[in-house]
Amino acid sequence: MSILVTGGAGYIGSHTVVELLELGKEVVIIDDLSNASSKVIDRIENITGKRPAFYQLDVKDKNALRTVFEKEDIESAIHFAAFKAVGESVQKPGLYYENNLMGILALVEVMLEFDVKKIVFSSSATVYGSFNPSPYKEDMPVGVPTSPYGQTKVMCEQILRDIYVADNNWSISLLRYFNPIGAHESGLIGEDPSGIPNNLMPFIAQVAVGKREFLNIFGDDYDTEDGTCVRDYIHVVDLARGHVKALGKLDQDKQVYTYNLGSGKGTSVLELVNTFVQVTGVEVPYKIAPRRAGDLPVFYANADKALAELNWTTEKSIEDMCRDTWNWQSKNPNGYQG
Ligand code: UD1
Repeated sequence: MSILVTGGAGYIGSHTVVELLELGKEVVIIDDLSNASSKVIDRIENITGKRPAFYQLDVKDKNALRTVFEKEDIESAIHFAAFKAVGESVQKPGLYYENNLMGILALVEVMLEFDVKKIVFSSSATVYGSFNPSPYKEDMPVGVPTSPYGQTKVMCEQILRDIYVADNNWSISLLRYFNPIGAHESGLIGEDPSGIPNNLMPFIAQVAVGKREFLNIFGDDYDTEDGTCVRDYIHVVDLARGHVKALGKLDQDKQVYTYNLGSGKGTSVLELVNTFVQVTGVEVPYKIAPRRAGDLPVFYANADKALAELNWTTEKSIEDMCRDTWNWQSKNPNGYQG
């Protein structure tokens, strides 16, 4: 029996595949490679000694998806495949709603046809919106995210909840990620953004490796200790292990589970930059720039529920995240391009 991982060649997907393979699970990856490289499959094999089945296809393509379900013995799915650039989603909302909603709808339709009713969904802390106070707890009402990207996460969560209401034989886990950074300690897989990175850590890493001149820190006049925004950074390997635990839980009781996957600790932009410099010994020049539209001053997780119910908690520190990011970036200055 195999676990289908959509978007399994992507940043979080590939790290999750590694954890699954290392536990002896069978994995089938589908990925259209729109934001990933086929080299990831080789790298996964280098790390684990096992080569996952891989199909290059778009999850929205139901016929292609059916052929995978016909060939492979799939028992559950982890659904990562989606567009995720917040700024781009504001510019191209139609593209985001179409891709992210049609993707999940196609997947659950085909799963239903093949009587596969276990799914872990890649959601985001952005579903808490801007009015809930931190630390965010799973029982807070879902808020209004500031971007179409965030709205697609809210809508996908709702689609899955409704599917469960219609058929209690589904077992569903909604995982709300905080800020995933870091890389596998081998330095073989990591985050490889296309174009100018939108997110903080990939930008820091590209400045450190000399691909960009300096980092813009978006605002130092927030109501926080050092004036820069505070986020809950989580090592991608910890995050990947959270998926394994969440998947295991689906076998216990058929329900809709919702978990924050975060550390429960806040770190400011300046703290992250300073830790990166300290750990790597590499300078990261920065300038203070105006605030970025839509940024919240502070958000972090209450991570108690995942600990209590999944026996999962983060194990890696901010130092580990910086070290592993640098290991990946310095070994792969151009990402998977070589
Ligand atoms: C955003 C999204 C989140 C998404 C995540 C990963 C929102 C509210 N949050 O998180 O849903 O899952 O990206 O894609 O939409 N920063 C700089 N300079 C930079 C880049 C970032 O100072 O060049 C600062 C930002 O202002 C922010 C912090 O670093 O304060 C973290 O930013 P980022 O890594 O983009 O993540 P979020 O905005 O927290």
